Amino acid sequence: MERVGLLVGRERSFPDALIAEVNRRQAGVVAEYLIMDGTRITERCGYRVLIDRISHEIVCYQPYLKHAVLCGAHVINNPFWRIADDKFFGTSLAHQLGVAVPKTVVLPSKSYPEGVVTESLSNLVYPLDWRAMVEYTGLPAVLKPHWGGGWKQIHRVDTLEELWRAYDSTGQLCMILQEFIAWEQYVRCICVGKDRVLVTTWDPRRPHQERYRQEDPPIEPALHEQLVEKTLRLNRALGYEMNTVEFAIRDGIPYAIDFMNSAPDFDIASLGPVYFDWVVNAMADLVIEKARNPGEPAYRWDALLSG
Ligand SMILES: Nc1ncnc2c1ncn2[C@@H]1O[C@H](COP(=O)(O)OP(=O)(O)O)[C@@H](O)[C@H]1O
Ligand SMILES: [Mg+2]
Repeated sequence: MERVGLLVGRERSFPDALIAEVNRRQAGVVAEYLIMDGTRITERCGYRVLIDRISHEIVCYQPYLKHAVLCGAHVINNPFWRIADDKFFGTSLAHQLGVAVPKTVVLPSKSYPEGVVTESLSNLVYPLDWRAMVEYTGLPAVLKPHWGGGWKQIHRVDTLEELWRAYDSTGQLCMILQEFIAWEQYVRCICVGKDRVLVTTWDPRRPHQERYRQEDPPIEPALHEQLVEKTLRLNRALGYEMNTVEFAIRDGIPYAIDFMNSAPDFDIASLGPVYFDWVVNAMADLVIEKARNPGEPAYRWDALLSG
């Protein structure tokens, strides 16, 4: 039996259903919640596949997950890729990949940890040229953390004064300033593995559990095809195997807005039963496939370790 382990936070509906589905299929693979104590460097990882739903919050899992990769486990999502990402890098990468993105600027932080003095910041101009930045992004604009999540510190600003007020509240965070895309349609694409995409209409203006709009008219086929292709292009470049990619569509052009959700909300209450089943099945297919055929890892130190 190959083993699949899950690391989770408070969520239960998705991981319980995934464990049940993998075990129900009797494919020579068994899934379970991982239980850990202190981990020794000499310890082997007993899992072929690990699904990481929470190391962004419970950071002490991160070194364990990287160690597990070194031991040959396949971790979803890859802990090395995920940790390297941020919203500015991702947006720049998307732009280079030919995916439309909002005009975006990364900003020096408002404040710094104790001990950082004026001389420590001699590479930065002061004051910042806010007018030039806003000329580039236009107004309204969005100010948000470069490594964010859960809609924390997301500010839509309509004037320079609003921008300054919002920026003054961001403390030591590194923020990006972004063109606001006034969309006519908003979609969220759920991506599992390297080739499975579920395109959904998703309305960010609604309360959390009413955002997936299964009852909306279907997305026009040419746009649907474009969304699938762009979602795959982004995920392959970023190395995610479990992700949601949001696009704001303006004048028929999909702009990638949020596409680094390494532990997307897969709760049944958010997804609804139909999308939930799609996700559980696609994830079960993926973990079983990876448990049976782990594939070749591609790390520089891997070549050294192979002797
Ligand atoms: N540039 C933008 N244009 C229009 N809407 C945006 C833009 N950036 C963010 N939003 C809106 O704000 C929401 C939260 O921003 P997002 O980047 O997803 O942050 P988080 O990572 O915290 O979820 C998005 O779902 C979207 O509805
Ligand atoms: Mg988001």
